[in-house]
Amino acid sequence: MKRIYLLGATGSIGQQTIEIIRANTEDFELKGISGYSNFSLVKDLVREFNLDIVSVKTKEQADEIKSDFPDLHVVYGEEGLTTLASFNPNQEITIINALVGMVGLKPTLRAIEVNRTILLANKETLVVGGHLIRDKLLSSKAAIYPIDSEHSALWQALNGEENQAVKRLIITASGGAFRDKTREELKNVTLEEALNHPNWSMGKKITVDSATMINKGFEIIEAAYLFDIDINKIEAILHKESIIHSMIEFIDGSIMVQIADHDMRLPISYAMYYPRRKPSIANKMDLLRLNNLHFSKIDESRYPCLTYANEAFIKGGSMRTVLNAANEIAVQLFIDGKIDFLDIEKIIKSEMDNHKVIPYPSLEEIYQIDQEIKQRVLKLHEGA
Ligand SMILES: NC(=O)c1ccc[n+]([C@@H]2O[C@H](COP(=O)([O-])OP(=O)(O)OC[C@H]3O[C@@H](n4cnc5c(N)ncnc54)[C@H](OP(=O)(O)O)[C@@H]3O)[C@@H](O)[C@H]2O)c1
Repeated sequence: MKRIYLLGATGSIGQQTIEIIRANTEDFELKGISGYSNFSLVKDLVREFNLDIVSVKTKEQADEIKSDFPDLHVVYGEEGLTTLASFNPNQEITIINALVGMVGLKPTLRAIEVNRTILLANKETLVVGGHLIRDKLLSSKAAIYPIDSEHSALWQALNGEENQAVKRLIITASGGAFRDKTREELKNVTLEEALNHPNWSMGKKITVDSATMINKGFEIIEAAYLFDIDINKIEAILHKESIIHSMIEFIDGSIMVQIADHDMRLPISYAMYYPRRKPSIANKMDLLRLNNLHFSKIDESRYPCLTYANEAFIKGGSMRTVLNAANEIAVQLFIDGKIDFLDIEKIIKSEMDNHKVIPYPSLEEIYQIDQEIKQRVLKLHEGA
């Protein structure tokens, strides 16, 4: 029986994780959750599961839950997330980080400090604080396993092989909602079109990140940290069917691929059961669909955000915070209808051009840069 604390229980990954827990109550017990804007769903989950701890957005929400459930430990705000990640430090608890954005960094670091196994969907954490996480893991018994479908594929394909045997990691990309549009056509695209991903149903931010392709850049950075592989050995390739979730080419010329339907419940379940495999509730693959798979090179001039992510990784340090902060706030402004789709890439470029890199930013410096950028971009586009 694995006890689970789930950060981001109300989101797309969070809800799919809960489906797996409901279907496998003999293997998993949900004992902690966090939610943010969806308070009514948090209350439903508190009623359904016998929790140790719940983290909510505000003190008022915490007071409301506390009055109905006096024995439950209730916390709130950003601090609530770190409390949840390290609650009951002497118990063996698996943390699933399904938060969106940089808010996932501090709870991940806290979970490492108390030697927890962390199943990580929250890729922004590694983009911004990969150096802190890597170094903290060196003095901890904690482990991080990926939930992202591409990284789960790499993890499964790599199983047992030495890093020196790897020639390159090849991460597949569906191309997002606008893969068939010209740059000219991108000028007038709407939020509704951006959210219409051809293969996956996901939270809003990652769906927009897929349309700009910055998501693929984030995934390359994520893979470099997760598998300790030189970024020059990691490539992205267009594969519009999202059936092959990633591949590893070994030095002898063999290429290992992982094939499955596009259903996040498989990578989530693989990570939750690791090191065992168990039947999963994910949709199964119809092999006849393998008849018609397409691969092509990514034209980076169509996807400047992918180039910016590569540049941010190479420049290193605080440039990754700049990349992420500018993207987070620009995507939010696009979702709120304040800017156009192509403004996202302009905002990221402008913030990166104006930044002087700190090679190894501390947690405090990361938070300071993040706030400065978000406030500046917000001010520039206030009332836009
Ligand atoms: N969805 C996928 O298929 C998929 C696949 C691979 C990787 N990922 C990665 O997994 C992560 C989660 O993605 P998602 O699609 O599940 O996102 P999502 O549906 O937007 O869910 C995000 C979760 O984080 C919570 N949250 C948002 N802002 C918060 C804040 N400031 N403080 C505390 N909690 C906050 C949300 O709470 P409320 O809903 O209550 O506001 C929700 O529980 C992302 O990093 C994404 O890149 C997702």
